[in-house]
Amino acid sequence: MEFKHIPVMVEEAVDLLRCEPGRTFVDGTLGGGGHAEEILKRTGPDGVLIGVEWDQEAIDEAEKRLKPYGNRVRVFRDNFVHLPAILKSMAIESVDGILLDLGLSSIQLEKEERGFSFRGEGRLDMRMDERRDCTAADLVNGLPATELERILLEFGEERWARRIAKAIVSEREKQPVQTTGALRRIVYRAIPKRFHTRRIDPATRTFQAFRIRANEELENLRGIMESGWEALRREGRMCVISFHSLEDRMVKEGFRRLEGQGVMRILTKRPLRPSEEEQKRNPRARSAKLRCGERV
Ligand SMILES: C[S@@+](CC[C@H](N)C(=O)[O-])C[C@H]1O[C@@H](n2cnc3c(N)ncnc32)[C@H](O)[C@@H]1O
Repeated sequence: MEFKHIPVMVEEAVDLLRCEPGRTFVDGTLGGGGHAEEILKRTGPDGVLIGVEWDQEAIDEAEKRLKPYGNRVRVFRDNFVHLPAILKSMAIESVDGILLDLGLSSIQLEKEERGFSFRGEGRLDMRMDERRDCTAADLVNGLPATELERILLEFGEERWARRIAKAIVSEREKQPVQTTGALRRIVYRAIPKRFHTRRIDPATRTFQAFRIRANEELENLRGIMESGWEALRREGRMCVISFHSLEDRMVKEGFRRLEGQGVMRILTKRPLRPSEEEQKRNPRARSAKLRCGERV
């Protein structure tokens, strides 16, 4: 079965980035290449798109999609925190804009064997970059209860963190927790029934927490928020689309810090949200927030 990822807030992002012919942009989260393609259309015939992505399956998708744009596209399999080194390797001093569209693509989420979805019985993996050595199963089966609780609290804002951590430990004493289904069942049992809501699956926060920790998502975001601006030319822009409050807070505070240092100006006092029409068309867009800053 083939899954398609519908890119979020594309028009808003490419407008804010001022994608005009001949310009050079970085897409730090290339994914299936949805935003990248729109950037390439707007910057034709000679603009350049540098795509960074650490998931090989996503790169394969993007390369297929972006083939018609030939050598206007340069793809790097890497972590976006390494952007300074990537640009250096290309002898590029500065770019016109940077886009980050955080989180998972539908291609990753829907593939049971990648272990991101709490539906089904996939291996408990959750690595976006399969070269990383720490899977969600390693965390769940290897960390002490206090550390599991901290992850659930910090990265999942899960009010039942202690109960879930204890339940994981007692379950893994019987047998290792190897599948997404096994973890989901533990969470379902640990959270009292009357707190199971229909709107949000009880396992959502737990899965979010282990995914963030397994991929060190917040460390990476903090890193690019600190160093990304240096890759921009004056008046170059950086747009970040986030999907949950931990990310959005970090983006907001990151831009504020840079504004305080006098190196960036915030263009979105409040984050932009997808139109109602987009939210209807693409449920994944519902939690999206877009923030943008400009190098001064
Ligand atoms: C929401 S998807 C991007 C979708 C893309 N904008 C599109 O329209 O197809 C986010 C992508 O960023 C990648 N990613 C997340 N963190 C990354 C990081 N630190 N370095 C490189 N890629 C990352 C994920 O693997 C995923 O493919």
